Amino acid sequence: MLLFSRKKDLIGHLATLKNNSTSVGLVPTMGALHKGHLSLVKKAISQNEVVVVSIFVNPTQFDNKDDLHKYPITLDTDLKYLKNISEELIIFAPPVTELYSNNISSKEYEFDGLDTTMEGKFRASHFLGVATIVEKLFLIVHPNKAYFGEKDFQQLLIIKKLVEKTNMSIEIIGCPIVREPNGLAMSSRNERLPKELRGKASFIYETLLTAKEIFGMKSAAKVMNWVKKKFDKNSEFDLEYINITEQENLNPVKRKHKNKKYRAFIAVYANGVRLIDNIALN
Ligand code: PAJ
Repeated sequence: MLLFSRKKDLIGHLATLKNNSTSVGLVPTMGALHKGHLSLVKKAISQNEVVVVSIFVNPTQFDNKDDLHKYPITLDTDLKYLKNISEELIIFAPPVTELYSNNISSKEYEFDGLDTTMEGKFRASHFLGVATIVEKLFLIVHPNKAYFGEKDFQQLLIIKKLVEKTNMSIEIIGCPIVREPNGLAMSSRNERLPKELRGKASFIYETLLTAKEIFGMKSAAKVMNWVKKKFDKNSEFDLEYINITEQENLNPVKRKHKNKKYRAFIAVYANGVRLIDNIALN
C-alpha cells in the first residue's frame, strides 16, 4: 500500500500505472473510517484496477469551526483497516496547504436548488466546500469512477450535478447505507454518543421504516406530521428536520405519482450530536 501526501507525487505515480484501458476508482473520505467507508472501498476495488482513497478533513465544508476541531483524526487505524482490505490501495492524505495553498475558501457553484434545502439550509455553504474539495480531488486523480454513500444522499446528488455542470467524464457510483446492528446509520459521529443513547438511537431508523409503511397509504404531509409528533414524545432526540421529497431533484411532493421515486430525509440531535439518515420510500 502506498501513502502520498503530495499531489505531485500521486500524479506522477498514477501516470506510471495508467494506460488507456486502466480504470481508476476514487473514494473520497475524511478518515475516521468505519464499515460504511470500507464498503465504498470494497466496491471500488471490485470495479477498478487502480483504487485511490483520499483522507482529508476538508476545512471549507465545516460551517461550525468547533465541529471541525472536534473531527476525529485516526490516520494510523484508518491505514490498518485499508491495508487489511488490500495492499494494492493508494492512499492520498495531504496537509491542508497542499490542496488550498494559502487560500482556504470555497468556489461558487450553481446546483439548481439542490444545495439550498435540508443540509444546505441548516449548514450554510457546506456543499460549496464539499464541491470545492471533490472537484480538486477529481482534477488530481482523474478517476473513471468515484464512490459516494447514500448516507449523504443530498451530497451524492450534488456531486452528480457537479460532474454534469463541469463536463467531467466521471461515473458517480452511489453505495447503500451501512448500518449498525440496531439500524443506526454508521457515522464517525456515533462514537460521540454515550453508549446507552447509541443503543436507543435505533429509534431514528425505526421511525423511518414506519414512515415508509405509512407513506404507502397517506400523503407526504401526513407522514411528516406523524414523524414530528413521534419526536415530540421522545425527549432524548431533537428533530431538526424531516423532509419527504422526490428522490432525483429533492423537490417537495405535491401529489404522489406511481412513476416517481420518493425519499425521506431526517436530521436529529442526540445529546448535542447531529445525526442524519434517509430512506427510499418506494
Ligand atoms: P465522510 O463523512 O468521511 O464520508 C466519506 C464517504 O463515505 C461519503 O461518500 C459518505 O456518504 C460515505 N459514508 C459515510 N457513512 C456511510 C454509511 N454508513 N454507509 C455508506 N456510506 C457511508 O462525506 C464526506 O466524508 C466528505 O463530504 C467528502 C465527500 C470526503 C468531501 O470532503
